[in-house]
Amino acid sequence: MRIIPEMPHLFPRSSGVILRQPEAGDVASLADLEFDSDVKQYSKIPELPKDKWAAEFTRGLGSHDLLTVVSLPEMAVAGRASISRVEFNNGDPIYYGPYNHELSIFIAKPFWSRGLGRIVAQDLIRLAFSEFQAKGIVAIAHPENTAALTLLRCFGFAQIGVKVAQGWQNGHLEFALSRSA
Ligand SMILES: CC(C)(COP(=O)(O)OP(=O)(O)OC[C@H]1O[C@@H](n2cnc3c(N)ncnc32)[C@H](O)[C@@H]1OP(=O)(O)O)[C@@H](O)C(=O)NCCC(=O)NCCS
Repeated sequence: MRIIPEMPHLFPRSSGVILRQPEAGDVASLADLEFDSDVKQYSKIPELPKDKWAAEFTRGLGSHDLLTVVSLPEMAVAGRASISRVEFNNGDPIYYGPYNHELSIFIAKPFWSRGLGRIVAQDLIRLAFSEFQAKGIVAIAHPENTAALTLLRCFGFAQIGVKVAQGWQNGHLEFALSRSA
């Protein structure tokens, strides 16, 4: 995703959140997020040790397909998010039909229920449809993940299926939002 130069006008600071490319100073917070068993209750914690993950993430700075969520006014790293073009998934070809972008949001626990997830989702959905010409957006959520289900449904996402892919056979649901919704 190469949207950063355009981001200042896409994500006004008045919204309470900055979305920007990850920086070296974010890595410790992003590693904490990645290895938090509550945040990752419904998804996978990386298999490699946290320090190795952080070192690899640091090496990849500048090429990551995710954005750091910075909360305002405190300017704290509050999570990560991405809106990525769906082309391949673990080597499988496209299988979401017209839904050619995927939304993913992970907010750190201290920032839950402050409205950040909603702001980030709104900004990334707008970005996908207005700047990336997305035909539709998919998002994956576990049926017991009430926070994610609430968030997706309040933007009009509807269930289109159950995720079946290597490493995903645990009942996650596929949700989708069409451009016209
Ligand atoms: C899902 C998640 C992104 C929501 O972020 P958040 O910043 O806490 O959400 P918000 O404060 O913006 O709330 C968004 C909506 O979800 C609801 N919500 C938030 N937490 C909730 C919870 N634990 N249970 C039920 N609803 C919840 C809010 O009430 C709000 O709905 P409303 O606007 O109708 O009142 C966050 O909980 C998270 O990162 N969870 C772990 C990772 C994850 O599951 N990501 C989703 C994968 S796409």
